[in-house]
Amino acid sequence: MLFGKKEDRPQLDMERLPAHIAAVMDGNGRWAQKRGMPRTAGHSAGSEAFQNAAEYLNDLGVKYFTVYAFSTENWKRPEEEVGAIMGLLDRYLRKAIREMTEKNIRLCFFGDLEPLSDSLKQLIAETNEISRHTTGMQVNVCLNYGGRAEIARAARLLAQECAEGRLQPEDITEAAISRKLYSADIPDPDLMIRPGGELRLSNFLLWQNAYTEFYFTDTLWPDMDEAELDRAIAAYQSRKRRYGGI
Ligand code: FPP
Repeated sequence: MLFGKKEDRPQLDMERLPAHIAAVMDGNGRWAQKRGMPRTAGHSAGSEAFQNAAEYLNDLGVKYFTVYAFSTENWKRPEEEVGAIMGLLDRYLRKAIREMTEKNIRLCFFGDLEPLSDSLKQLIAETNEISRHTTGMQVNVCLNYGGRAEIARAARLLAQECAEGRLQPEDITEAAISRKLYSADIPDPDLMIRPGGELRLSNFLLWQNAYTEFYFTDTLWPDMDEAELDRAIAAYQSRKRRYGGI
């Protein structure tokens, strides 16, 4: 099944949950426009949907949840929209700092954080510190992230080690590259959810998604509630993963 269908809420097999779910939070702008609201209201609803999804998936027992919050290309959007997304991140981080310990969530950021404001960087540093002590689901927020940029960065890091004589070119294996990605310590996604009706990857986790099961749906991200997430997980559970075998 390519597209998710609006059926009754499916029964999940709790023994076969995906350990790692990734999602492109697409369709926020259209969700708002359909309601005659500004695009920024869609991002605000998208931020709520993200927080609800993280809580629900943590309750289910999913171990990793990775979302695409802001791509390296998203800077091209109008200044007001970029500002609104950064404002939502700021609000979310302040809330996370208050609640992460109680909810037992770990928070990580994938991407080049350098261009972010000092106050966002400070809040991220605080969540990193809290994450050293929490043990529940790890939420990875991809921020100023691009899959190709991530792979190029890994190549630069390995080249640097070769130039310094700490690594030989023949040591540059797939595992060596994986260790230089932002996702170095975690398994690849089992399930990638792309809402919003687009059938593309958009430079998201290019290396990590090599054997990931994809779930595409016309549902817009702000409408990805628990039932919709269940449908995505049920579709994943109906697949046979062969990893190139038979
Ligand atoms: C894509 O939808 C969405 C984004 C570029 C921004 C996503 C950001 C958030 C949900 C808020 C902040 C994040 C966190 C983690 C608190 P789109 O605007 O391209 O939708 P469209 O295709 O309908 O225009």
